[in-house]
Amino acid sequence: MAKIKKIAVLTSGGDAPGMNAAVRAVVRTALAYDLQVIGINKGYQGMIEGDFIELKSETVRNIIQRGGTMLRSARSKEFRTSEGRQKAFNNLKKQAIDAVVVIGGDGTFKGAGIFSQEYDIPFVGMPGTIDNDMFGTDYTIGFDTALNTVVEAIDKIKDTAFSHDRTFFVEVMGRDAGFIALKAGIATGAEMVLIPEISGQEEKLEKLLQTTKKSSNLIIVAEGNNVGGASEIAKNFGKKYRNHGVRVNVLGHMQRGGAPSAFDRFLASRLGVAAVDALIDNQRSIMVGYSNHEVAHIPFNKTIKGKRDVGEELLRVNNILAK
Ligand code: F6P
Repeated sequence: MAKIKKIAVLTSGGDAPGMNAAVRAVVRTALAYDLQVIGINKGYQGMIEGDFIELKSETVRNIIQRGGTMLRSARSKEFRTSEGRQKAFNNLKKQAIDAVVVIGGDGTFKGAGIFSQEYDIPFVGMPGTIDNDMFGTDYTIGFDTALNTVVEAIDKIKDTAFSHDRTFFVEVMGRDAGFIALKAGIATGAEMVLIPEISGQEEKLEKLLQTTKKSSNLIIVAEGNNVGGASEIAKNFGKKYRNHGVRVNVLGHMQRGGAPSAFDRFLASRLGVAAVDALIDNQRSIMVGYSNHEVAHIPFNKTIKGKRDVGEELLRVNNILAK
Protein backbone atom coordinates (compact mmCIF):
# COMPACT_ATOMS: atom_id res chain seq x y z
CA MET A 1 0.00 0.00 0.00
CA ALA A 2 1.30 3.51 -0.85
CA LYS A 3 2.66 5.52 2.05
CA ILE A 4 0.13 7.88 3.62
CA LYS A 5 1.18 11.51 3.27
CA LYS A 6 -1.99 13.50 3.75
CA ILE A 7 -5.03 12.73 5.88
CA ALA A 8 -8.36 14.45 6.46
CA VAL A 9 -10.49 14.65 9.60
CA LEU A 10 -14.17 15.48 10.02
CA THR A 11 -16.88 15.53 12.66
CA SER A 12 -20.36 14.36 11.70
CA GLY A 13 -23.83 13.81 13.18
CA GLY A 14 -24.90 15.36 16.47
CA ASP A 15 -22.04 17.30 18.04
CA ALA A 16 -20.60 15.99 21.30
CA PRO A 17 -18.33 17.54 23.92
CA GLY A 18 -14.81 16.30 23.31
CA MET A 19 -14.99 16.44 19.51
CA ASN A 20 -12.54 19.36 19.54
CA ALA A 21 -10.16 17.41 21.75
CA ALA A 22 -10.47 14.55 19.26
CA VAL A 23 -9.67 16.80 16.27
CA ARG A 24 -6.69 18.25 18.15
CA ALA A 25 -5.36 14.78 18.93
CA VAL A 26 -5.70 13.62 15.32
CA VAL A 27 -3.96 16.75 14.01
CA ARG A 28 -1.08 16.66 16.48
CA THR A 29 -0.51 12.91 16.00
CA ALA A 30 -0.56 13.24 12.22
CA LEU A 31 1.96 16.08 12.43
CA ALA A 32 4.15 13.94 14.67
CA TYR A 33 4.23 11.44 11.77
CA ASP A 34 5.05 14.31 9.36
CA LEU A 35 1.69 14.01 7.63
CA GLN A 36 -0.29 16.92 6.25
CA VAL A 37 -3.76 17.34 7.77
CA ILE A 38 -6.89 18.70 6.17
CA GLY A 39 -10.02 19.55 8.16
CA ILE A 40 -13.31 18.93 6.39
CA ASN A 41 -15.99 21.35 7.54
CA LYS A 42 -19.58 20.18 8.19
CA GLY A 43 -18.94 16.45 7.99
CA TYR A 44 -19.75 14.54 4.81
CA GLN A 45 -21.59 17.56 3.40
CA GLY A 46 -18.30 19.47 3.41
CA MET A 47 -16.63 16.52 1.69
CA ILE A 48 -19.22 16.79 -1.09
CA GLU A 49 -18.85 20.56 -1.31
CA GLY A 50 -15.05 20.56 -1.07
CA ASP A 51 -15.14 22.66 2.11
CA PHE A 52 -11.59 21.89 3.26
CA ILE A 53 -9.04 23.76 5.40
CA GLU A 54 -5.47 22.95 6.25
CA LEU A 55 -4.98 22.24 9.96
CA LYS A 56 -1.71 23.11 11.68
CA SER A 57 -0.62 22.61 15.24
CA GLU A 58 -1.60 26.17 16.13
CA THR A 59 -5.05 25.83 14.49
CA VAL A 60 -5.99 23.36 17.22
CA ARG A 61 -4.42 25.30 20.06
CA ASN A 62 -6.72 26.18 22.95
CA ILE A 63 -9.65 24.04 21.79
CA ILE A 64 -9.28 20.98 24.04
CA GLN A 65 -11.58 22.58 26.64
CA ARG A 66 -14.26 23.79 24.24
CA GLY A 67 -17.61 22.14 23.55
CA GLY A 68 -19.12 21.82 20.06
CA THR A 69 -16.81 21.23 17.12
CA MET A 70 -14.55 23.77 15.41
CA LEU A 71 -15.07 21.81 12.17
CA ARG A 72 -18.83 22.05 12.65
CA SER A 73 -21.10 19.13 11.93
CA ALA A 74 -24.01 18.02 9.75
CA ARG A 75 -26.22 15.06 8.95
CA SER A 76 -25.75 14.92 5.19
CA LYS A 77 -28.66 13.52 3.16
CA GLU A 78 -26.67 13.89 -0.05
CA PHE A 79 -23.94 11.55 1.20
CA ARG A 80 -26.58 8.82 1.31
CA THR A 81 -26.78 8.99 -2.48
CA SER A 82 -24.16 7.44 -4.76
CA GLU A 83 -23.90 10.77 -6.68
CA GLY A 84 -23.08 12.54 -3.41
CA ARG A 85 -20.42 9.99 -2.50
CA GLN A 86 -18.93 10.23 -6.01
CA LYS A 87 -18.57 14.03 -5.59
CA ALA A 88 -16.99 13.47 -2.17
CA PHE A 89 -14.50 10.98 -3.60
CA ASN A 90 -13.59 13.37 -6.43
CA ASN A 91 -12.84 16.11 -3.90
CA LEU A 92 -10.68 13.81 -1.78
CA LYS A 93 -8.73 12.82 -4.90
CA LYS A 94 -8.38 16.44 -6.03
CA GLN A 95 -6.85 17.25 -2.65
CA ALA A 96 -4.62 14.12 -2.79
CA ILE A 97 -6.03 12.89 0.52
CA ASP A 98 -4.81 9.38 1.30
CA ALA A 99 -6.95 8.54 4.34
CA VAL A 100 -9.77 9.94 6.48
CA VAL A 101 -10.56 9.97 10.21
CA VAL A 102 -14.27 10.37 10.92
CA ILE A 103 -15.58 11.34 14.36
CA GLY A 104 -19.27 10.68 15.00
CA GLY A 105 -22.00 8.20 15.87
CA ASP A 106 -23.98 5.47 14.22
CA GLY A 107 -24.94 7.34 11.04
CA THR A 108 -21.37 8.53 10.55
CA PHE A 109 -20.08 4.97 10.67
CA LYS A 110 -22.77 3.74 8.30
CA GLY A 111 -21.69 6.40 5.80
CA ALA A 112 -18.02 5.52 6.27
CA GLY A 113 -18.80 1.81 5.84
CA ILE A 114 -20.60 2.30 2.52
CA PHE A 115 -17.99 4.73 1.18
CA SER A 116 -15.12 2.40 2.07
CA GLN A 117 -16.75 -0.41 0.12
CA GLU A 118 -17.14 1.77 -2.95
CA TYR A 119 -13.83 3.64 -2.96
CA ASP A 120 -10.28 2.71 -2.14
CA ILE A 121 -9.53 5.32 0.53
CA PRO A 122 -8.86 4.05 4.08
CA PHE A 123 -11.29 5.31 6.74
CA VAL A 124 -10.84 5.02 10.50
CA GLY A 125 -13.61 6.10 12.90
CA MET A 126 -13.72 7.52 16.41
CA PRO A 127 -16.95 7.17 18.44
CA GLY A 128 -18.28 10.68 19.11
CA THR A 129 -21.86 10.91 20.38
CA ILE A 130 -23.47 11.73 23.70
CA ASP A 131 -25.69 8.63 23.35
CA ASN A 132 -23.00 6.04 24.24
CA ASP A 133 -24.70 3.56 21.94
CA MET A 134 -21.77 2.40 19.81
CA PHE A 135 -21.05 -1.30 19.79
CA GLY A 136 -17.41 -2.12 20.60
CA THR A 137 -16.58 0.71 22.99
CA ASP A 138 -17.47 1.11 26.65
CA TYR A 139 -17.65 4.88 26.23
CA THR A 140 -18.24 7.29 23.40
CA ILE A 141 -16.68 10.76 23.39
CA GLY A 142 -19.23 13.18 24.89
CA PHE A 143 -21.28 10.76 26.96
CA ASP A 144 -19.59 11.50 30.28
CA THR A 145 -20.00 15.27 29.87
CA ALA A 146 -23.64 14.96 28.81
CA LEU A 147 -24.37 12.67 31.74
CA ASN A 148 -22.88 15.17 34.16
CA THR A 149 -24.86 18.01 32.57
CA VAL A 150 -28.06 15.99 33.00
CA VAL A 151 -27.26 15.10 36.62
CA GLU A 152 -26.56 18.74 37.46
CA ALA A 153 -29.86 19.85 35.91
CA ILE A 154 -31.86 17.10 37.63
CA ASP A 155 -30.34 17.89 41.04
CA LYS A 156 -31.77 21.39 40.65
CA ILE A 157 -35.15 20.08 39.53
CA LYS A 158 -35.23 17.75 42.55
CA ASP A 159 -34.88 20.71 44.91
CA THR A 160 -38.10 22.21 43.63
CA ALA A 161 -39.83 18.81 43.33
CA PHE A 162 -39.20 18.24 47.03
CA SER A 163 -40.16 21.75 48.11
CA HIS A 164 -43.50 21.63 46.29
CA ASP A 165 -44.39 17.92 46.58
CA ARG A 166 -44.35 17.42 42.83
CA THR A 167 -43.77 14.62 40.35
CA PHE A 168 -41.39 15.64 37.58
CA PHE A 169 -41.05 13.99 34.19
CA VAL A 170 -37.61 14.95 32.90
CA GLU A 171 -36.90 14.14 29.25
CA VAL A 172 -33.32 13.46 28.26
CA MET A 173 -31.75 12.70 24.86
CA GLY A 174 -31.51 9.20 23.44
CA ARG A 175 -33.62 8.56 20.38
CA ASP A 176 -32.63 4.90 20.32
CA ALA A 177 -30.67 4.43 23.52
CA GLY A 178 -31.29 4.74 27.24
CA PHE A 179 -27.73 5.08 28.52
CA ILE A 180 -28.04 8.73 29.57
CA ALA A 181 -31.43 8.14 31.18
CA LEU A 182 -30.41 5.02 33.04
CA LYS A 183 -27.11 6.27 34.42
CA ALA A 184 -28.63 9.65 35.29
CA GLY A 185 -31.44 7.77 37.03
CA ILE A 186 -29.00 5.90 39.25
CA ALA A 187 -26.93 9.02 39.89
CA THR A 188 -29.90 11.16 40.90
CA GLY A 189 -32.04 8.53 42.63
CA ALA A 190 -34.91 8.62 40.13
CA GLU A 191 -38.07 6.73 41.06
CA MET A 192 -38.33 5.39 37.53
CA VAL A 193 -36.50 5.46 34.19
CA LEU A 194 -38.25 4.95 30.84
CA ILE A 195 -35.92 3.79 28.07
CA PRO A 196 -36.32 2.69 24.43
CA GLU A 197 -34.75 -0.74 25.03
CA ILE A 198 -37.51 -1.87 27.42
CA SER A 199 -41.17 -2.36 26.53
CA GLY A 200 -44.19 -2.67 28.82
CA GLN A 201 -43.14 0.13 31.15
CA GLU A 202 -46.53 1.87 30.98
CA GLU A 203 -48.16 -0.42 33.54
CA LYS A 204 -45.20 -0.06 35.89
CA LEU A 205 -45.45 3.70 35.64
CA GLU A 206 -49.18 3.61 36.39
CA LYS A 207 -48.55 1.38 39.39
CA LEU A 208 -45.86 3.70 40.67
CA LEU A 209 -48.13 6.74 40.46
CA GLN A 210 -50.98 4.83 42.14
CA THR A 211 -48.99 3.38 45.01
CA THR A 212 -46.14 5.77 45.76
CA LYS A 213 -46.06 7.08 49.32
CA LYS A 214 -43.54 9.71 48.38
CA SER A 215 -44.64 13.30 48.07
CA SER A 216 -42.18 14.05 45.29
CA ASN A 217 -41.08 11.79 42.45
CA LEU A 218 -38.62 11.95 39.61
CA ILE A 219 -39.22 10.03 36.40
CA ILE A 220 -36.54 10.21 33.74
CA VAL A 221 -37.82 9.75 30.21
CA ALA A 222 -35.41 8.92 27.39
CA GLU A 223 -36.61 10.53 24.12
CA GLY A 224 -37.23 7.30 22.23
CA ASN A 225 -38.94 5.27 24.98
CA ASN A 226 -42.08 3.27 24.20
CA VAL A 227 -44.54 5.12 26.46
CA GLY A 228 -44.12 8.55 24.83
CA GLY A 229 -42.44 11.93 25.21
CA ALA A 230 -42.39 13.55 28.66
CA SER A 231 -45.04 16.14 27.72
CA GLU A 232 -47.38 13.50 26.31
CA ILE A 233 -46.97 11.22 29.33
CA ALA A 234 -47.46 14.11 31.74
CA LYS A 235 -50.62 15.17 29.86
CA ASN A 236 -52.07 11.67 30.04
CA PHE A 237 -51.16 10.89 33.61
CA GLY A 238 -51.33 14.43 34.99
CA LYS A 239 -55.12 14.60 34.66
CA LYS A 240 -55.58 11.27 36.37
CA TYR A 241 -53.16 11.93 39.20
CA ARG A 242 -53.76 15.59 39.97
CA ASN A 243 -52.49 15.11 43.53
CA HIS A 244 -48.99 14.61 42.10
CA GLY A 245 -48.66 18.17 40.79
CA VAL A 246 -47.14 16.82 37.62
CA ARG A 247 -44.52 19.01 35.91
CA VAL A 248 -42.35 18.48 32.81
CA ASN A 249 -38.80 19.43 31.92
CA VAL A 250 -37.35 18.68 28.49
CA LEU A 251 -33.60 19.20 28.78
CA GLY A 252 -32.98 19.23 25.01
CA HIS A 253 -29.81 20.39 23.30
CA MET A 254 -28.18 21.86 26.39
CA GLN A 255 -27.14 18.23 26.96
CA ARG A 256 -24.87 18.37 23.92
CA GLY A 257 -23.07 21.59 24.81
CA GLY A 258 -20.50 22.76 27.32
CA ALA A 259 -16.88 22.12 28.16
CA PRO A 260 -15.92 18.43 27.97
CA SER A 261 -15.24 16.62 31.23
CA ALA A 262 -11.71 15.50 32.05
CA PHE A 263 -12.70 11.96 31.07
CA ASP A 264 -13.99 13.01 27.63
CA ARG A 265 -10.82 15.04 26.98
CA PHE A 266 -8.72 12.02 27.96
CA LEU A 267 -10.80 9.60 25.86
CA ALA A 268 -10.75 11.87 22.81
CA SER A 269 -6.99 12.38 23.12
CA ARG A 270 -6.25 8.69 23.59
CA LEU A 271 -8.44 7.62 20.69
CA GLY A 272 -7.16 10.40 18.43
CA VAL A 273 -3.62 9.06 18.76
CA ALA A 274 -4.91 5.51 18.25
CA ALA A 275 -6.83 6.48 15.08
CA VAL A 276 -3.76 7.90 13.35
CA ASP A 277 -1.56 5.05 14.63
CA ALA A 278 -4.04 2.65 13.03
CA LEU A 279 -3.83 4.41 9.65
CA ILE A 280 -0.03 4.38 9.78
CA ASP A 281 -0.32 0.69 10.57
CA ASN A 282 -2.26 0.25 7.30
CA GLN A 283 -5.53 -0.50 9.07
CA ARG A 284 -8.80 0.60 7.50
CA SER A 285 -12.58 0.36 7.98
CA ILE A 286 -12.27 0.11 11.75
CA MET A 287 -13.43 2.12 14.73
CA VAL A 288 -10.98 2.79 17.52
CA GLY A 289 -12.86 2.23 20.77
CA TYR A 290 -12.10 1.98 24.46
CA SER A 291 -12.90 -1.33 26.06
CA ASN A 292 -11.85 -2.47 29.54
CA HIS A 293 -9.55 0.57 29.79
CA GLU A 294 -7.67 -0.41 26.63
CA VAL A 295 -7.81 0.82 23.06
CA ALA A 296 -9.77 -1.62 20.90
CA HIS A 297 -10.03 -1.93 17.10
CA ILE A 298 -13.48 -2.93 15.86
CA PRO A 299 -14.36 -3.49 12.18
CA PHE A 300 -16.98 -1.07 10.83
CA ASN A 301 -19.40 -3.88 9.98
CA LYS A 302 -19.40 -4.98 13.64
CA THR A 303 -19.99 -1.48 15.05
CA ILE A 304 -22.72 -0.85 12.50
CA LYS A 305 -24.56 -4.14 12.94
CA GLY A 306 -23.90 -4.73 16.64
CA LYS A 307 -26.37 -3.38 19.18
CA ARG A 308 -24.92 -2.29 22.48
CA ASP A 309 -26.83 -3.73 25.38
CA VAL A 310 -27.96 -1.07 27.82
CA GLY A 311 -27.58 -3.63 30.58
CA GLU A 312 -30.80 -4.66 32.29
CA GLU A 313 -28.68 -5.12 35.39
CA LEU A 314 -28.51 -1.33 35.64
CA LEU A 315 -32.31 -1.13 35.57
CA ARG A 316 -32.39 -3.61 38.45
CA VAL A 317 -29.87 -1.45 40.34
CA ASN A 318 -32.09 1.57 39.82
CA ASN A 319 -35.22 -0.31 40.87
CA ILE A 320 -33.63 -1.57 44.09
CA LEU A 321 -32.24 1.82 45.06
CA ALA A 322 -35.31 3.84 44.15
CA LYS A 323 -37.51 2.32 46.85
O1 F6P B 1 -27.36 11.41 18.30
C1 F6P B 1 -27.30 12.31 19.35
C2 F6P B 1 -28.61 12.96 19.61
O2 F6P B 1 -28.35 13.91 20.58
C3 F6P B 1 -29.77 12.06 20.01
O3 F6P B 1 -29.76 11.66 21.35
C4 F6P B 1 -30.93 12.94 19.67
O4 F6P B 1 -32.09 12.18 19.49
C5 F6P B 1 -30.51 13.59 18.42
O5 F6P B 1 -29.10 13.65 18.48
C6 F6P B 1 -31.08 14.96 18.16
O6 F6P B 1 -30.61 15.42 16.94
P1 F6P B 1 -30.85 16.85 16.32
O7 F6P B 1 -29.88 17.79 16.98
O8 F6P B 1 -30.55 16.69 14.89
O9 F6P B 1 -32.24 17.24 16.64
